[in-house]
Amino acid sequence: MSARVHARVPIEPQSVDAPLTNSANFLVVTIADASEAVATVREVLADIDNLAKNVSIRDLDASFACTVGIGSDAWDRVMTGLPRPSELHPFRAVRGQKHTAVSTPGDLLFHIRANRRDLCFEFERQLLGALGDAVKVVDDTEGFRYFDVRDLLGFVDGTANPVGQDVEVATLVTAQEDAAVVGGSYVVVQKYVHNMDGWNALSTEQQEAVIGRKKLDNVELKDPAEGKQQPHKSLATIVDDNGDVHEILRDNMPFGNPSKGEFGTYFIGYSKELWVIERMLHRMFIGHPPGLHDKLLDWSKPLTGVTFFAPSADLLKKLR
Ligand code: HEM
Repeated sequence: MSARVHARVPIEPQSVDAPLTNSANFLVVTIADASEAVATVREVLADIDNLAKNVSIRDLDASFACTVGIGSDAWDRVMTGLPRPSELHPFRAVRGQKHTAVSTPGDLLFHIRANRRDLCFEFERQLLGALGDAVKVVDDTEGFRYFDVRDLLGFVDGTANPVGQDVEVATLVTAQEDAAVVGGSYVVVQKYVHNMDGWNALSTEQQEAVIGRKKLDNVELKDPAEGKQQPHKSLATIVDDNGDVHEILRDNMPFGNPSKGEFGTYFIGYSKELWVIERMLHRMFIGHPPGLHDKLLDWSKPLTGVTFFAPSADLLKKLR
C-alpha cells in the first residue's frame, strides 16, 4: 500500500477510500479455536500489505485493494496488547414489526477489490493458502459492476457517497473520536437477497418512491412531509441535534446467479462512528416514525449482519 497524504490523520490508514471497482469479493471467516490459529492470523494480517503487493503489481491500472476488518470477539484474541476501538461490539440485531436485521458470525472481513476479476481471485487464493486451517470461511460473495453502477433493483447505487476530502472525514477515526485507534474505520456488512418478481411487479413510479430517486436519470425526489412514509434515501440520512449530517461510505455491489434464482446486494458501509450506521439500520427496520419501515425491505432480506473494525495499516504492522 503506497504512502498517501491524509490531512486529518497522522498515520497510514488502510485503503478504505479505494475506488468502486468492476469486481469485488466480500470474504468473511471465523478463526479456529487452537492458539496456533491466532498466531497464523496475526502473521498473515501483519504481512497483508506484502500479500497485496504480490497481486497489485501484476496490473497497476486495476485499482487492486484489500481492506481487513476484525470482529469484536476476535479483536481481543488477535490484537492482544493493542488498544480496542471504543464503539466496537458484535452486530446488534434490529427487530422491526415486519423485518429483522439479523446478526451472524464473522471474525475477519477481507474486502477485496479490483477492476479485474482475476486479481481478486488470485489474491483470495494466496490469502486462503496462507491462512490454511487457521480460519473457516463463513461466506464469500463475489460482487460485480452492473451497468452504470446500478443495483439489481435497477437504481444507481452510491450517488450520495462522500467524495474527495469528505471521504476521510466520514470514514477515518481521528483523535477526537478515539485517540487509540486513529486512522481506523468501523465496517458493517449485510448480504441482502431480493424478491425480484415482487419488485418488478411495481410500477417505476412506485419503485422510485421506495428509493427516493428517479430510476432513469437518478434525480432526487422531494421528501414526503414529516410523519409520512419516508423513502430509503431519507431514512438513511442521519442528522444530529446540531443539524449536522453524518455521512458514511458505501461500496455496495450486486451479486447473484440467475440459474439459482439468486439476486442480491452486498451492503458494506464504512464510518468513523459506528452509531451512525446503527441509527440508519434502526430507522430502516423500526421505521421513522416507528412502524413506517423502509419499504426497500419488503423486497430485500438480509441473510447476514456483521460489524468489524478496520484498523490503520500502521496498527496492523504492529502485529509483527
Ligand atoms: C442511498 C440502495 C441498503 C445507506 C441509496 C440509494 C440506493 C440504495 C439506490 C440512492 C442512491 C445513493 O445515494 O446511493 C440500497 C440497496 C440496499 C441498501 C439496494 C440493500 C438492499 C442500505 C443500508 C444502509 C444504506 C443497509 C445503511 C445501514 C444508504 C445511505 C444512502 C443510501 C446512507 C444515501 C442517503 C443520502 O444521503 O441521500 N441506497 N441500499 N443503504 N443508502 Fe442504501
